[in-house]
Amino acid sequence: MRRTPPPRTYRVKSFGCQMNVYDGERMAELLAQQGITPAPEGEEADLVVLNTCHIREKAAEKVYSDIGRLKREDGSAPLIAVAGCVAQAEGEEIMARAPAVSMVVGPQAYHRLPAMIADAVAGKRAVDTDMPAQTKFDALPARRKVGPSAFLTVQEGCDKFCTYCVVPYTRGAEVSRPFKDLLAEAERLIEAGAKEITLLGQNVNAWRDEGNCGLEKLIEALAAIPGLERIRYTTSHPNDMTQGLLDAHRDVPKLMPFLHLPVQSGNDRVLKAMNRSHTVASYLEILDRVRAARPDIALSGDFIVGFPGETDAEFEDTLRLVEQVGYAQCFSFKYSARPGTPAAEMDGQVPLTVMDERLARLQAALNASQLAFNRASLGKTCEVLVERRGKLQGQWLGKSPWLQSVHFTGEAAIGDLIRVELVEAGPNSLSGRLLQPAHG
Ligand code: SAH
Ligand code: SF4
Ligand code: F3S
Repeated sequence: MRRTPPPRTYRVKSFGCQMNVYDGERMAELLAQQGITPAPEGEEADLVVLNTCHIREKAAEKVYSDIGRLKREDGSAPLIAVAGCVAQAEGEEIMARAPAVSMVVGPQAYHRLPAMIADAVAGKRAVDTDMPAQTKFDALPARRKVGPSAFLTVQEGCDKFCTYCVVPYTRGAEVSRPFKDLLAEAERLIEAGAKEITLLGQNVNAWRDEGNCGLEKLIEALAAIPGLERIRYTTSHPNDMTQGLLDAHRDVPKLMPFLHLPVQSGNDRVLKAMNRSHTVASYLEILDRVRAARPDIALSGDFIVGFPGETDAEFEDTLRLVEQVGYAQCFSFKYSARPGTPAAEMDGQVPLTVMDERLARLQAALNASQLAFNRASLGKTCEVLVERRGKLQGQWLGKSPWLQSVHFTGEAAIGDLIRVELVEAGPNSLSGRLLQPAHG
């Protein structure tokens, strides 16, 4: 590697889950603290951070095509850092395969980025995929300016080892951030403009403080902070869904009526092979309890089709579950064999054509369910948290309490909570009629 001038501008591109989005924001703040500024829209950056996702093969391969695209006509390239879960999983391989990359930094080590940039400027390539004891969070600068809806990572890593999943390897063991650090960061987010905070974790409901209190205590403490209007959390694992957390949906008005609880399959044999450690019945029982606590709760989930050995009949069980639950929205994926996971070695890998057909059927059912949920919201009044302007004159976009996208026209500003009546429903959004501004 040759020496390069210190970068003056940066661009961070995040892929994958919301935790990666959060990490991307934190890296951007870290770079800004070093005096590096965001590259203006349409202009090339001196430093590009690719914050990657390893969850499925397609996502993981994307990093190499992205690196290729960063090359200029004369063969040179900006400084490139590969961060995130592909960095963690394939650090050395990236270095070997992509000479244009000068830094590889794992999700637990990105606070060391400034030192790595200094090395890169001096012509040294480096890989840092440590999971150090001192957490990155202690080393990051304070949040400055955020939108009305902000993310706050409270928990990282996973101890569940579902047989298809790379996350326990890329993000490490479950670790909870301390209660007092989280309250302090939440307060800074609110000062920086947040009205809604979404608590993030690979298994967010596994969050525990040292005193062993669970996520509901954190939610209660956050709800007491003036200026914070809404609280959400994602992603939850069925096995960590405590009664205390379910009760919070009844007792804490600022906790929004939305639960993302992945199930993956509607068949117990498949769930067992996935090592999910819950059954269809135990999953449905949790949904019954959350509905008892909060009857209007909107439900969401994740599904995998074509797990090794999944038969047609077993897949039909998943369709039946979707029918039964009435999800408000969901994510669904074709199974992707990930190197190093037990499922990748299992017999009965399902052909791609079969997976395509199953995914199409599942998505049709999920889309129908989402539309039905949206239609059932018609006539309701609710508050919309305004996140941005719409395309039309005087139009605003925001979210309902049930995480639906809602657009309306009238007087409002970003960050307002505006009371609307839901008057039209499409598959992906609703339109609202402004009743009166709730604040300001
Ligand atoms: N911790 C969360 C989800 C993390 S990954 C949970 O367990 O709910 C997000 C989603 O990606 C998973 O819920 C699963 O549906 C999907 N996923 C994970 N590994 C996958 C794989 N190998 N192939 C296809 N989808 C996968
Ligand atoms: Fe992956 Fe399972 Fe952990 Fe979720 S719970 S991150 S799917 S291993
Ligand atoms: Fe992807 Fe890593 Fe998130 S693999 S889904 S970015 S935890």
